Amino acid sequence: MPNTDNQSIYVVALCGSLRQGSSTHAALQIALSGAKDAGAEVELLDLGAYQLVFQGSVANEADYPPGVFKLREKVKRAHGILLGSPEYHGSFSGVLKSALDLMGFDEFEDKVIGLVGVSGGRMGAVNALSMLRTVSTALHAWVVPNDVSIPRSSEAFDANGNLHDAELAARVKAVGRQVTEFAALRNSR
Ligand SMILES: Cc1cc2nc3c(=O)[nH]c(=O)nc-3n(C[C@H](O)[C@H](O)[C@H](O)COP(=O)(O)O)c2cc1C
Repeated sequence: MPNTDNQSIYVVALCGSLRQGSSTHAALQIALSGAKDAGAEVELLDLGAYQLVFQGSVANEADYPPGVFKLREKVKRAHGILLGSPEYHGSFSGVLKSALDLMGFDEFEDKVIGLVGVSGGRMGAVNALSMLRTVSTALHAWVVPNDVSIPRSSEAFDANGNLHDAELAARVKAVGRQVTEFAALRNSR
């Protein structure tokens, strides 16, 4: 039953994998379903759809592709932001870092952030999550304490993008719910 108190809360998810059939994407869909159940308007932002360039690679910011400004606008409008990334070589993905480097305090300061990581190995996305927490802090955002990591990603999901492990699915959903609830608290002031 959606919580109608949180209906004015907009939560976006930035997916740090561009891969077709990405498990990060599937995990973020689950987290967003938690945000939606908590009453938020939700949107998954596919970073492949915004013509992203590397920070500094275009001399004048005004000449950035329109997609960059669209992404900034959506994140700026969001009250809550989910960052999802695969563990890549002991960190989070370059595509997500590049997207974050095109943004800053205007988009992130005082926002509520939830973190979701996936890894191919058994150890989980511990480094990706830790570094995303550091970067989120540098952006002056508030990161909810319970992040979630999905290890052995190739075996974790069924063909419909659902997690086999119901307890883990509940934890992923809880990240979306917490982001919505804390964003609502933050915006009630
Ligand atoms: C460049 C690269 C580096 C990776 N490094 C790690 C790693 O350090 N630890 C790990 O457990 N898995 C690693 N993986 C596996 C990914 O975390 C795993 O395949 C994950 O599911 C990819 O996310 P996706 O399904 O959303 O694309 C790596 C994969 C790639 C492509």
